[in-house]
Amino acid sequence: MPTDLSPIDKAKFVAAKQAIGYVEDGMKVGLGSGSTAAWMIRCLGERVAEEGLKIKGIPTSTRTAALAREVGIDVISLDEARWLDVAIDGADEYDGNLNLIKGGGGSLLQEKIVATASDQMIVIADASKSVETLGNFPLPIEVVPFGWQTTKTLVEETLIGMDVLGRKVSLRMNGDAPFYTDEGNHILDLHLNRIGAARQLSLVINQIPGVVENGLFIDICDVVVIGYGDGRVEVRDINQGSIEESKVDFVETDNLFADLND
Ligand code: 5RP
Repeated sequence: MPTDLSPIDKAKFVAAKQAIGYVEDGMKVGLGSGSTAAWMIRCLGERVAEEGLKIKGIPTSTRTAALAREVGIDVISLDEARWLDVAIDGADEYDGNLNLIKGGGGSLLQEKIVATASDQMIVIADASKSVETLGNFPLPIEVVPFGWQTTKTLVEETLIGMDVLGRKVSLRMNGDAPFYTDEGNHILDLHLNRIGAARQLSLVINQIPGVVENGLFIDICDVVVIGYGDGRVEVRDINQGSIEESKVDFVETDNLFADLND
């Protein structure tokens, strides 16, 4: 276990390391975004370099694409891939049914398209992302810039009729300017505190003109790999109804632990 990593980073690392065991030669692999996904991309890059693993990576953000190329993964577009064997990504929250909130990094749209186009979605996370009920993490929704303030008002009005505890909606900022996604859209963060009926909320929010997609991933994730700071991993598979525990052993390599910019 690398000693200079925080317990959270160790947890993210072991989850990532375990999850890449799902990747086999010849696969088309969806590459998620965020700090946990960045560990996974580094681990995959190591397998490419050391084992000669032959995969095609389909990135879910420009940052992920850059990192994947940097570590030697062959990157192709989703249009070239059409269908993927597996997508591996992080999450901001997961519940007992493996429903998720994603989009903390602003890449929810590409992440959802890629995960939905995959035979299997595997989420990698530390245990702090586990919740009984989704909603403590603000729910991101991607909206087109045209008329975004009107869209925000419509979202606020829609929330009045929904089973949620909070209703504050904020425009995500990047310093003093609105945040732009890779698709040129804005993000509204919905501070709901508790989402009572996530499936219904997801459907209703997506009906509002101007909303492109929301960060609720319902019935998309198949497996969550949960990492702990001491190297333990727990693998929850919703289709098999199984929970398995193991421990990840690894050696620190220069390749893997060189500066990580994500
Ligand atoms: C980006 C995401 C990320 O997967 C999510 O925010 C988790 O990030 P991290 O692994 O850095 O905690 O959805 O849009």
